[in-house]
Amino acid sequence: AASLAALLPATALAQKKIVLGFSQVGAESEWRTANTESIKASAKDAGIELKFSDAQQKQENQIKAIRSFIAQKVDVIAFSPVVESGWETVLREAKAANIPVVLTDRSVNTKDDSLYVTFMGSDFVEEGRKAGRWLVDKMKDEKGEVNIVELQGTVGSAPAIDRKKGFEEIIKADPKFKIIRSQTGDFTRAKGKEVMEAFLKADGKKINVLYAHNDDMAIGAIQAIEEAGLKPAKDITIISVDAVKGAFEAMIAGKLNVSVECSPLLGPQLMSAVKDIKAGKTLPKRIVTEETIFPMEVAAKEFPKRKY
Ligand code: AHR
Repeated sequence: AASLAALLPATALAQKKIVLGFSQVGAESEWRTANTESIKASAKDAGIELKFSDAQQKQENQIKAIRSFIAQKVDVIAFSPVVESGWETVLREAKAANIPVVLTDRSVNTKDDSLYVTFMGSDFVEEGRKAGRWLVDKMKDEKGEVNIVELQGTVGSAPAIDRKKGFEEIIKADPKFKIIRSQTGDFTRAKGKEVMEAFLKADGKKINVLYAHNDDMAIGAIQAIEEAGLKPAKDITIISVDAVKGAFEAMIAGKLNVSVECSPLLGPQLMSAVKDIKAGKTLPKRIVTEETIFPMEVAAKEFPKRKY
């Protein structure tokens, strides 16, 4: 009698590939590009079929992408939510369809944590605290007021909310630190430059410190500062977050004082989580990325080791 193998098509015998639907925020920053590359390369290495969708910084596009992943019956859905709130309905739809959801990089604001399996990414509040602690230490001998301008990330996003919170928590211990202006630069270089130009127009030499929620906005702002005839990192102390290669170049050039690390290299962790979920393993609800801080003094030495 013919064997079973001979009767079945070869494709049915080959192990079925796990299908992962991933909805990315967009391509707003050097960080995000590195994050996308990490996810695509790791999916390939892990033999996972990736359906990738770019939301161009719009929540409605992410919701559409998630619904389309549900309709396609993917094995696992992962996404990096552009903003924190407004996800309950679509996450309930995924749950009803029995499709596990993994949050990467940014979290959602929900009381029902059964709507996702795990959240992997940085502790953004701690990043804000690291930025604050560095500043408090740097300015410890300063007697007068320290006027700070802040470039916030995307309105309503977890990193913008949390980096502000952590920074304020530290600087409020000393009333000499004053945030005199705070506005969103949407995590982009172009917006960072534009908003910094407006800050400089309004307050000019009064500004002592710039706290930017990411490196791209700081790099845009550095251009505005130079165009205004001021010296970045000297006339205005500049602190930012991410520690991408562009920030290291700015630090080596003496134009950025410090960058708090936020790693975008979440791909390998995500792929192993996807495999664990499919294998029925239980994952921790929160997987925190370990990170540090890089002041300009160490930039040249660290640069060759940087992976993003
Ligand atoms: O969510 C992470 C943040 O998003 C990064 O700090 C920023 O550069 C990116 O756009």
